[in-house]
Amino acid sequence: PPPPDMPKCLKDTPYTRLCSSKSILTVNGQFPGPTLYVTEGDTLVVDVVNQARENVTIHWHGVKQPRYPWSDGPEYITQCPIQPGTRFSQKIVLSDEIGTLWWHAHSDWSRATVYGALVVYPKKRNDYPFPKPHAEIPIILGEWWKSDIQAVLDEFIQSGGDPNVSDAFLVNGQPGDLYPCSRPDTFRVTVDYGKRYLFRMINAVMNNIMFFRIANHNITVVGSDGAYTKPFTSDYIAISPGQTIDFLLEANQRPSQYYMASRVYVIAGSAGNTTTTAIIQYSGNYSAPSSPLRPALPAFDDTLASTNFTRRLRSLASKDHPVDVPQNANTIMFFTLSINTVGGSIGGRLRASINNITFVPPRIAILQAYYNRIRGVYGDDFPSNPPFTFNYTQQTMLPREWLTPQNGTEVRVLEYNSTVELVFQGTNLVSGIDHPMHLHGYSFYVVGSGFGNFDRDRDPLNYNLVDPPLQNTIAVPVNGWTAIRFKANNPGVWLLHCHFERHVSWGMEMAFIVKNGKSPDAKMLPPPPDMPRC
Ligand code: C2O
Ligand code: CU
Repeated sequence: PPPPDMPKCLKDTPYTRLCSSKSILTVNGQFPGPTLYVTEGDTLVVDVVNQARENVTIHWHGVKQPRYPWSDGPEYITQCPIQPGTRFSQKIVLSDEIGTLWWHAHSDWSRATVYGALVVYPKKRNDYPFPKPHAEIPIILGEWWKSDIQAVLDEFIQSGGDPNVSDAFLVNGQPGDLYPCSRPDTFRVTVDYGKRYLFRMINAVMNNIMFFRIANHNITVVGSDGAYTKPFTSDYIAISPGQTIDFLLEANQRPSQYYMASRVYVIAGSAGNTTTTAIIQYSGNYSAPSSPLRPALPAFDDTLASTNFTRRLRSLASKDHPVDVPQNANTIMFFTLSINTVGGSIGGRLRASINNITFVPPRIAILQAYYNRIRGVYGDDFPSNPPFTFNYTQQTMLPREWLTPQNGTEVRVLEYNSTVELVFQGTNLVSGIDHPMHLHGYSFYVVGSGFGNFDRDRDPLNYNLVDPPLQNTIAVPVNGWTAIRFKANNPGVWLLHCHFERHVSWGMEMAFIVKNGKSPDAKMLPPPPDMPRC
């Protein structure tokens, strides 16, 4: 592994994919960006140097940053952007995260090209709670637009509708050989027969949950979102944007070449041009078929395939890796996740909301305003329940006020150490869809989920309080609900948002302020001297 303290230089770099070139924002000229290797509990210092023409911030997705939200990264939430020609030294504080996390830009749509893996090793190297792998292989799913990403964003905002679909999906920055003019750009990995490999998979795509499968091979899932899971075997994966899945592959099939393939899960429309491929080739001499075997992926609209995979995730819940799920909650919230339209007319410009509030980013970072007691930047009235109760998932008659969101820059304040239960309820306003919800500053236990309307009397009786998975991103099923629990023991300002980039642009985000505790080690640390200025 490289030394833990390294500069990261953002610059505009020419890249060619699908026989077409453009300049993209990169870190150190690399796409995807460099993989960072750290050890459990490390503090990493990264000097972010902006030599590009655009503003940027860097977020450490899944790193809790205890008491130190200053380096978390989301633009106008914890910091103002790092402007061209300036720098910001970020201190990334790891605690109990282990396995695979990642980092990405967190300003407008710049994460389309600015992302990379963050691998967290156990204190004793190779001290895994699963059989030791021969080697590790990062797999980052991404997306490529032939157009400039800022142009894609501008056009999307102008149109008021959905963004243009990307021209290719990518495995480790490569589109694979099924797209026009992409054959040379295929990621290949060589394996030895009889050996075991640990794949560290990250979904960095902008707007889609992805299916993934390797021809002829089953995989064993052993981790997700920087935590170990109970091992389970599957022939495919469903992974949300923001989420990570660690899995073992036994190279135990006839030596040959095999495709691994990934494509979108979408509940409506078509999968179109979305199958990206990479190739696993066994070492040694054999006669391989001219074209590797292709795996049969779940149908692009297979909601059950997506949700069933996610529901199989469980915490390891072992002596060395115990669960710490709050058995009761003293702060209970219910958040509806909706797609809305301006003016309440179907066909109008699209918006998105949580509890009917479309988030409007402030001009000064909320964290800076909170810490320095600057008034008028945000309100603390974010509701813990939606303003209207209705049949969220069946609604066909749509009163205007349900369709039209309110704009707001509102936070919800949480007492230090409160035990929080948050139920996300998908709604069928305008259109029902899954939402991969991500919380900064925390991992949370996913204690329950289901289709239809959440039932406060019945559904909590079926919560899993024994071995629920510990996640930082969870796909709330289409027209369904997901319940999470966490202890609010990390003071700071922490963003909650859908990890579909178009939904964020439409306003599906809010922030929590978690207050300081009483003891000195329960208080936020002071900001570094070089916080970017607004
Ligand atoms: Cu991976 Cu706020 O994001
Ligand atoms: Cu969403």
